[in-house]
Amino acid sequence: MPGTVLVTGGDRGFGLGLCAALLPLGWHVFAGQYLSDWPELPALQRQYPETLEIVPLDVRSMESLHAAADFVQQRVGALDVLINNAGVQSETIYAGIRSPQNYEEMHRLYDVNALGPLRVVEAFLPLMDAGQGKRLCFISSEAGSIGAAQRTSWFGYCMSKAALNMAVKILFNDLRPQGYTFRLYHPGWIRSYMHGQKAVEAHFEPEEAAALAIPILFGTNADENRLALIDYDGKEWPY
Ligand SMILES: NC(=O)c1ccc[n+]([C@@H]2O[C@H](COP(=O)([O-])OP(=O)(O)OC[C@H]3O[C@@H](n4cnc5c(N)ncnc54)[C@H](OP(=O)(O)O)[C@@H]3O)[C@@H](O)[C@H]2O)c1
Repeated sequence: MPGTVLVTGGDRGFGLGLCAALLPLGWHVFAGQYLSDWPELPALQRQYPETLEIVPLDVRSMESLHAAADFVQQRVGALDVLINNAGVQSETIYAGIRSPQNYEEMHRLYDVNALGPLRVVEAFLPLMDAGQGKRLCFISSEAGSIGAAQRTSWFGYCMSKAALNMAVKILFNDLRPQGYTFRLYHPGWIRSYMHGQKAVEAHFEPEEAAALAIPILFGTNADENRLALIDYDGKEWPY
């Protein structure tokens, strides 16, 4: 049953694809805006002026997140679903250990990809407590799977997603007994903007990736008491 949902990183890529797919289904969507001068989200809002609300949101800043939560509180007073989608990648990932590593960049990836979703949950939990849906979704990646790791570089991105997976497990331990359900999701390889411009390679357009994601993010699981990293095909990845 549609209700209220917040999507972080809603400006473009997978996040925008999710917003565009949820609106025709009747969801009231709060789209976190990070790029105030990127035109796609305002264009989508012109199609759905009543049910798409754009809220400035930087997952690195508690101040920004509290302001965004206040906005949602004033507009609707409760959230049913939270989708932690915002994430960053870096050109520096290709440097193997025999090359100098960019630790500052790794800090940025960790700050956005691992700490960001934790900050978002902290800020929005009171609104989720007031909602009916109690569904927390985290867009992770196969790159965060230690069990399946094959790469010989990509330190910052893979480590940040593995740390995110741990954060989600701790949240699960705490909040599942309080009635929350969780989705830890790998969306596949998407033609998004992770490298600054729209990717030409990859398997899915953002809207295709969103169509695959929605049944998994919004559907029911046979066993909600078991946390699993699931991909667009329903396949489980090792932690
Ligand atoms: N693309 C893939 O193949 C792939 C595969 C597996 C998992 N994922 C995950 O999917 C999620 C969505 O990524 P995407 O592929 O759609 O990439 P994207 O096109 O770059 O979209 C991510 C959005 O988040 C924004 N963002 C960056 N920093 C932020 C911050 N501090 N606060 C709020 N928003 C911020 C980005 O802005 P900027 O463009 O300015 O950075 C961008 O608008 C990410 O968590 C990513 O790790 C992607």
